[in-house]
Amino acid sequence: MNRVNLTRILITAGATQEPIDGVRFIGNRSSGQLGVALALSSAVAGYEVTLLLGANSTQPTFHPRLRTVPFSSTRDLKAKLLELWPTHHILIMAAAVADFTLKNGQIEGKIRRGDALQIDLIPTDDIVSGLAQTSRTDQRILAFALENPEDLVTSAQEKLKRKNVDAIVANPLATMHANTISAEIFCKDGRHISPSHNMPKPQFADWIIDRLDEILNIT
Ligand code: CTP
Repeated sequence: MNRVNLTRILITAGATQEPIDGVRFIGNRSSGQLGVALALSSAVAGYEVTLLLGANSTQPTFHPRLRTVPFSSTRDLKAKLLELWPTHHILIMAAAVADFTLKNGQIEGKIRRGDALQIDLIPTDDIVSGLAQTSRTDQRILAFALENPEDLVTSAQEKLKRKNVDAIVANPLATMHANTISAEIFCKDGRHISPSHNMPKPQFADWIIDRLDEILNIT
């Protein structure tokens, strides 16, 4: 058995949903397409894969080495990651996580129409940076960042340091609704790796998984 067969990858994909009342939530437009493609590529490559997948995301096709666990809110995603991370070696954090949640939690029932409504929001926990702080030496984390093209490089490098992850994949905002992807990958040790051209998301997923050891400095 080679190393890949013994390696367990945890991948998050899709959007979190912060409940407002019994019927509404704060969400975002992520489809989870890239994260799901990464999960399938990893399973095909021989990794054992756990995919934490947001509601309303693209669903993966069946693969015997891929299991899917649903998540809803940021708090739910964090709880599931804390439970699952210790039994995995690599985390690919592709989920689009809400930055804010309701200060006083979900409002009971359904909010009725009125003149005005004010809802207080507080920042969510930065999940990936929390996990990076407690990771073991045999674990590696790859994060993602969707950035304005004009400050993509500086912002991605700042996040790489602030979150203390092993590498970060930076994509321009336009990636969100596109079928193709252009990306720059920044590694903790200062290396910078990028595909030579734009690729469809499934092909980009294969490209990353083929180079995962190099990106995450796994020897
Ligand atoms: N992330 C996380 N927890 C959050 C927000 C983001 O774990 N509360 C993760 C994302 O899954 C991604 C990485 O952090 O892998 C970067 O996400 P991004 O939204 O670009 O970073 P933020 O820290 O939220 O910065 P900003 O939204 O201000 O750009």
